[in-house]
Amino acid sequence: MGVIASAPAKIILFGEHFVVYGEPAIVLAIDKRAYAKADLRLDKRIFLRSLNMNVAGYFEDENFKVEEGNPKEAKMKLEPLKCAVEKVLEISSEKVGLNIEVNSTVPVAAGLGSSAAVAAAVVAAVGALLNVKLSKEDVFRMAYDAEKIMHGTPSGIDPAISTFGGAMLFQIDTGFKPLDVKTDIPIVIGNTGVERSTRSQVAKVRSLRDRYPQIVDPMMRAAREIVLRAIEALKDGDLKTTGELMDINHALLYGLGVSDESLEWLINAARKAGALGAKLTGAGGGGCMIALANKDSIRNVLEAVQRAGGNAFLAKKTNEGVRIEPV
Ligand code: MEV
Repeated sequence: MGVIASAPAKIILFGEHFVVYGEPAIVLAIDKRAYAKADLRLDKRIFLRSLNMNVAGYFEDENFKVEEGNPKEAKMKLEPLKCAVEKVLEISSEKVGLNIEVNSTVPVAAGLGSSAAVAAAVVAAVGALLNVKLSKEDVFRMAYDAEKIMHGTPSGIDPAISTFGGAMLFQIDTGFKPLDVKTDIPIVIGNTGVERSTRSQVAKVRSLRDRYPQIVDPMMRAAREIVLRAIEALKDGDLKTTGELMDINHALLYGLGVSDESLEWLINAARKAGALGAKLTGAGGGGCMIALANKDSIRNVLEAVQRAGGNAFLAKKTNEGVRIEPV
């Protein structure tokens, strides 16, 4: 009998990129989940298949044998998942073979934390299959290690929210704190359909900061102030201020060079249709934007983003982090 685990995707409301340099960020888990199924094999190999990325293959020691997809691409995409599996095998000290199948309703490379959600689900599924007692903190650490293979120097915000769920204030130094959000936050997500790599977006910001520290450091401080004001606005259910702060946050991200034409197009469409605020979410350079709207204008905003060519949907916050699914 296999075990299935799942973990949610996320949207960053405030503070992406700045969070990599120690500033705070606000993140929400959303009701789109990644699923991982783990089964024992009779041999000692690890077989991994990603249904949504159309890649599959076997890992045995350092060797990789492709089963589906381009060999190089398949290995690159499956390697972080192999790392997630190995982290659990290390503490279980069992030498077993495993079949792992992942499937995700989260668009890939779109800023919604698909890779972290998948990694957290894989860790939880393998842990449950092998009867390894894992705390949520353990799942987070292991998913974070897998993320580092994929993204270089990630802050840890994506695996944290996928593991714990809910709404959270995250900062590298102090970790994560659940955030008090009084109101529903009616959000439209618009996917530009332009795939991009978090690793290269983060590297781009690092290079800008290295070249212009006197300019970028004050932007970091401004981003921190935005988050501090947003904590209050979210606590009070003040959507107007939250929207204004999103617009300012986006302007800073634009200044860092991580927006692009496709994002600007959707963001402008949302603002024209009455959004209270709109910004890119995640690493940028394509991927997704988010727009905040009042309950009575959210349909207009959704349709405007769709008409502008975005794949748009409404996001709901979920409190459910990583979990084992009934089989
Ligand atoms: C990616 O979802 C958010 C970034 O800030 C990178 C990170 O924090 O790891 C761009």
